[in-house]
Amino acid sequence: MDKPKQPFADGTPNLIDDVFEAPARERVHAATPFTHAPRFLILYGSLRERSFSRFLAYEAARLLEAMGGEVRIYDAHGLPLPDDATADHPKVQELRTLSIWSEGHVWVSPERHGNLTGVMKSQIDWLPLSEGSVRPTQGRTLAVMQVSGGSQSFNTVNSLRVLGRWMRMITIPNQSSVPMAYKEFDEAGRMKPGPLYDRVVDVCEELMKFTLLTRERSNYLVDRYSERKERDPERLAAVAADIGFLKPTAR
Ligand SMILES: Cc1cc2nc3c(=O)[nH]c(=O)nc-3n(C[C@H](O)[C@H](O)[C@H](O)COP(=O)(O)O)c2cc1C
Repeated sequence: MDKPKQPFADGTPNLIDDVFEAPARERVHAATPFTHAPRFLILYGSLRERSFSRFLAYEAARLLEAMGGEVRIYDAHGLPLPDDATADHPKVQELRTLSIWSEGHVWVSPERHGNLTGVMKSQIDWLPLSEGSVRPTQGRTLAVMQVSGGSQSFNTVNSLRVLGRWMRMITIPNQSSVPMAYKEFDEAGRMKPGPLYDRVVDVCEELMKFTLLTRERSNYLVDRYSERKERDPERLAAVAADIGFLKPTAR
């Protein structure tokens, strides 16, 4: 079928990635295979000394390491509230560096007043969507988990999913919600065996699979037509002139 000659409402030339054309196909398939272990950053949303979300974060870390991953767990003690310090604060720099290093995240938040904690949200609020060409979260995989004091709820994992979408992450379908978390961990902080633990294993396994499938392609996945258009209006105008399309409308 012939392609429409001018598909864009504002006269912009065709710079969409046509996956059936060679240059885009090469970008999908030609990445050098990664040989390093998949890299995971785990964030949890509590500063309590005996914190069940931290215990769950460590369970996820053990599992991802057992599956061949390399894991870092961020400790939010000392992280200022968003905008209460400048971004060169060492705890902010530590968080951003870890996120840039990572290929996948796990976010584990307690439920507090029916939602994620401020400690959890502050960490995400310190991560910029993009800073120049650096995108600390975009294109990474994400698994979401919550612990609750009460009966099982999905409020917090649902909110974490919204945040994951906002940070342009690939949030995996499976998730873990641990009700009455005080019953699920022993004195040493290990999760007790049972269906809730098995679910955590399932989530980590799925996160590993999605990360292996997507990590070499994350730059390709996050590259958007509308951003290319904003980044490079002059090139677009030149291409438009070359091929006889209208110039993009001025904004
Ligand atoms: C102020 C406050 C609000 C809470 N709100 C909820 C809630 O809405 N639903 C719930 O199931 N548990 C709620 N909890 C219980 C916590 O989710 C529970 O204590 C959890 O283990 C805290 O996480 P942490 O152990 O990692 O600190 C609340 C606890 C506090 C202190």
